[in-house]
Amino acid sequence: MPVPDDFTLPTLGVNIDHVATLRQARRTVEPDPIAAAVLAELGGADGITVHLREDRRHIQERDVRLLRQMVRTHLNLEMAATPDMVTLACDLRPAYVTLVPERREEVTTEGGLDVAAQVEALTQVVETLQDQRIPVSLFIDPHPVQVKAAAQTGAQWIELHTGRYADARDEAGRRTELSHLETACYLAREAGLRVNAGHGLTYWNVLPVAQMAGMEELNIGHSIISRAVLVGLERAVREMKQAMRGTL
Ligand code: PXP
Repeated sequence: MPVPDDFTLPTLGVNIDHVATLRQARRTVEPDPIAAAVLAELGGADGITVHLREDRRHIQERDVRLLRQMVRTHLNLEMAATPDMVTLACDLRPAYVTLVPERREEVTTEGGLDVAAQVEALTQVVETLQDQRIPVSLFIDPHPVQVKAAAQTGAQWIELHTGRYADARDEAGRRTELSHLETACYLAREAGLRVNAGHGLTYWNVLPVAQMAGMEELNIGHSIISRAVLVGLERAVREMKQAMRGTL
């Protein structure tokens, strides 16, 4: 893929939920996601991302409060668009909030928010948070209808769901999914939205998304934490930055 002249590498938000998952497996105090955030930043993370789920299955409120004090880069809080979570976010004051759909029985976030089906309700949530100077990002599938609806809500950002791209089984499928991401990214920028992406990105599939014009931040969790178990978190983060540059 040709790299445009004005290309700048997107920043890397490291999602540390899986560190908390390991801790919660034993309901103990280790490994501590706060330590993981510090090491991720030492490895070159540009941001730290956590998903505070309503069932608190991995990240806890205590983690977000401490991360808010410890993180030297920026803290992205993923959450459901519920009144309780909005109240909590206004108290916790992350650098920005990413609104995601949440189903209790899911293993991980399964799809983007259907913004088009709930423009009014999401507009209210976006307004409440952004009135508190907490910018909002909407996690959506790379579909023009969702991009248009996201712009209508007044959100400053979108995060494009890269799951279908990551799950594509062959080169043709990957190319198709990549073109959906490119189109959605272009349309979003035209509509004045800033664009992030994430879900299912790995050391092997990240490069074309990292090279997409207008892409600002990639949020990556599972692949980095999986590698970190074997090589350490600092090195795993450093190697993901290399993969994004195409120098791994
Ligand atoms: N972005 C969002 C909105 C997510 O919900 C997740 C998963 O928690 C990620 C990015 C990171 O996905 P992965 O762990 O597959 O890298």
